[in-house]
Amino acid sequence: MAQNALPWVEKHRPASLSALSEQSYVTDTVLKLVSTGLLPHLLFYGPPGTGKTTTILAMARHCYGAQLGEMTLELNASDDRGISVIRSEIQSFAASQRLFNAGYKLVILDECDNMTKDAQFALRRIIEKYTRHTRFCLIGNYASKIIPALQSRCMKFRFAPFSTQASKEALATIAKAEHVSITDSAISAIIKYACGDLRRACNLLQSCALSSSSDIEDTTVFSVSGMLRPSDIDALLRSVLNDSLDNVITAFAAVVNLRNGSLANIIPELQDRLFEMHLPAGTRGILFRALADAEMSLSLGCSEKLQTRSLGAAFVSIRRENMLMSINANMS
Ligand SMILES: Nc1ncnc2c1ncn2[C@@H]1O[C@H](COP(=O)(O)OP(=O)(O)OP(=O)(O)O)[C@@H](O)[C@H]1O
Ligand SMILES: [Mg+2]
Repeated sequence: MAQNALPWVEKHRPASLSALSEQSYVTDTVLKLVSTGLLPHLLFYGPPGTGKTTTILAMARHCYGAQLGEMTLELNASDDRGISVIRSEIQSFAASQRLFNAGYKLVILDECDNMTKDAQFALRRIIEKYTRHTRFCLIGNYASKIIPALQSRCMKFRFAPFSTQASKEALATIAKAEHVSITDSAISAIIKYACGDLRRACNLLQSCALSSSSDIEDTTVFSVSGMLRPSDIDALLRSVLNDSLDNVITAFAAVVNLRNGSLANIIPELQDRLFEMHLPAGTRGILFRALADAEMSLSLGCSEKLQTRSLGAAFVSIRRENMLMSINANMS
């Protein structure tokens, strides 16, 4: 595929160790172990878009150079979760002779938390059998979905969501390379939307660039992503403070409609907005709990309409107890 036709997440995936940001604690430790010949099997885990795949690929490229292809086997366990992948592909790669080079071969098993338990048990045996010449790097989002027997054979590294600063630098680098002009507030909006997932941030940046013929402003980000504008949340909070229960419910429904009818999507944004305000601990506690309860109920399949009404009622009942006066003060 032509380089220009690639999605930006692939096109701008850092290829070298020096281009990686934030993961130096992983790369430094692993490279030290490589240099001492004591490299253990690795387990990289953490939320999506936090650089797990990118980091191991950059390290493999650094260690193997031109021999990358023959020394590395990269499998995506989600493609074929059956035990046959474990038995055939890994086995034949790990068993093949290294003719001219010394050192370990590397099997990268991406998304292995999606492997069946049987496949994971089979992998445990294979890891043991080929440990003399092969190292495995298991990658997944949830360490808890990987059987303890596999976990105990690996050195674990947790990848945290990208910090605001690192996300800002990565987005600015991509924008510059693509000759896209973007305002600081638009970058901040993208980072807020992505919550530390750089793939999500990068995809949104590309969508904004495609839909905008001039500078990317925060308004572009809001309309492309469907994020709520701060003014939408302010309007909701104002209604919550002053209106009758019926009108508060209508205001909630109006904001929910802006997010394609999903109350679950506005709860984190509403919570962030309340978090930024300096509210008394008691008021915060009650509101956060009401929001968390609504989110949990929604995730269990409860009705949007009932949860919207219940949230509206929670706000109004706090107002009755005079606890929202401080919110009013915060908004003026
Ligand atoms: N250190 C980094 N510096 C800059 N950009 C990065 C870095 N790591 C990753 N990226 C960008 O973020 C995107 C997502 O990274 P990557 O695919 O490695 O995430 P992941 O943790 O493997 O996610 P998943 O769990 O969903 O597979 C990459 O395509 C790349 O563009
Ligand atoms: Mg990955």
